[in-house]
Amino acid sequence: MPSLFDPVTLGAFDVANRIVMAPLTRARANREAVPNALMAEYYAQRASAGLIISEATGISREGLGWPNAPGLWNDQQVAGWAIVTDAVHKAGGRIVAQLWHMGRLVHPDLGGGQPVSASATTAPDFAHTYEGKKPYVEARAATRDDIARIIGDYAAAARNAIAAGFDGVQIHGANGYLVDQFLRDSANQRSDEYGGSIENRIRFASEVIEAVGDAIGMQRVGIRFSPNVFTQGVEDSDPIALFTALARRLEGLQVPWIELREAHAPTLAGAIPTEPVSPAMRPLYSGRIALNSDYDGPSATARMAEGIADAISFGRPFIANPDLVDRIRLGAELNTGDSATYYSGGAAGYIDYPTLEDREAA
Ligand SMILES: Cc1cc2nc3c(=O)[nH]c(=O)nc-3n(C[C@H](O)[C@H](O)[C@H](O)COP(=O)(O)O)c2cc1C
Repeated sequence: MPSLFDPVTLGAFDVANRIVMAPLTRARANREAVPNALMAEYYAQRASAGLIISEATGISREGLGWPNAPGLWNDQQVAGWAIVTDAVHKAGGRIVAQLWHMGRLVHPDLGGGQPVSASATTAPDFAHTYEGKKPYVEARAATRDDIARIIGDYAAAARNAIAAGFDGVQIHGANGYLVDQFLRDSANQRSDEYGGSIENRIRFASEVIEAVGDAIGMQRVGIRFSPNVFTQGVEDSDPIALFTALARRLEGLQVPWIELREAHAPTLAGAIPTEPVSPAMRPLYSGRIALNSDYDGPSATARMAEGIADAISFGRPFIANPDLVDRIRLGAELNTGDSATYYSGGAAGYIDYPTLEDREAA
């Protein structure tokens, strides 16, 4: 059984170890969604991860509803990201861009109009805006023209990611955002070929994957799902049936790797996970599977030994431990992150977490 420290091939590229940095929104870009040198420093500090998955990155103004999150729809954003990818590569790392359309979770203050989703639904709770939290507004159901346009936006953003120097992309299919709004039946009430049956609900995700694969080569494409937990109002009545059908489709499309945020314990928001789907997906999908959520070094090592995961991704541990790979290797204690600075902007709580070396020097 491979260990966390064995290299692995993820489609077009090899990674040096199987400790993946999970996508983490940190809200340090400017209002035009342009990344900067501070972000380059943060990511370069974490370049010993086998693979960095970038924070979720908007494919269009319409699809980006998080204050100070970055985008990939124009040249300024490509230039900003090029600083980041260059710094990561110089530090010996690999980085892919997580491509994001938030669907009904985009507040009009940020997206510029009524949000679009699979169906005319309203997300629960509150949107983050530059003026604080506001209730979500009802989305309109995407027309076929909207769907074609949005798929084109994914492809264009993927091309921009490659132009910016990313090693590939990860399509964000998790956490209740647009792809997930089409996939899972609590948010998809359509009666056309994009809704109803499982076959129809996986159509949007499949078409996005195909378009992105056509744009940059399927060997550079990955996708993330959160199959077994209720997130931002999105869940499914039969996750095993849905995600096994999806596993067969991913196999057919030859997607080289996927990441599953598969919760085992109640989430911070209080959602209770259903049965894990990765055991049912594994025999149907021969690509690489990264598993996520709530791992530390010992539990990740134990999970790798079960033979389902090819890699483990770590979110919060990477926020607080730029040298997480060394710490896991040495069995060292981990720093604890400060959630007050997750989205606060600025350098504090972003690039100032100490490494083991810093601690020794102090
Ligand atoms: C501050 C923060 C930002 C996050 N941003 C994203 C994101 O941009 N895209 C995404 O798919 N998941 C995002 N997540 C979820 C993480 O990728 C990960 O699934 C979650 O933190 C659980 O993994 P962990 O227990 O290793 O932290 C975020 C989580 C946190 C705490």
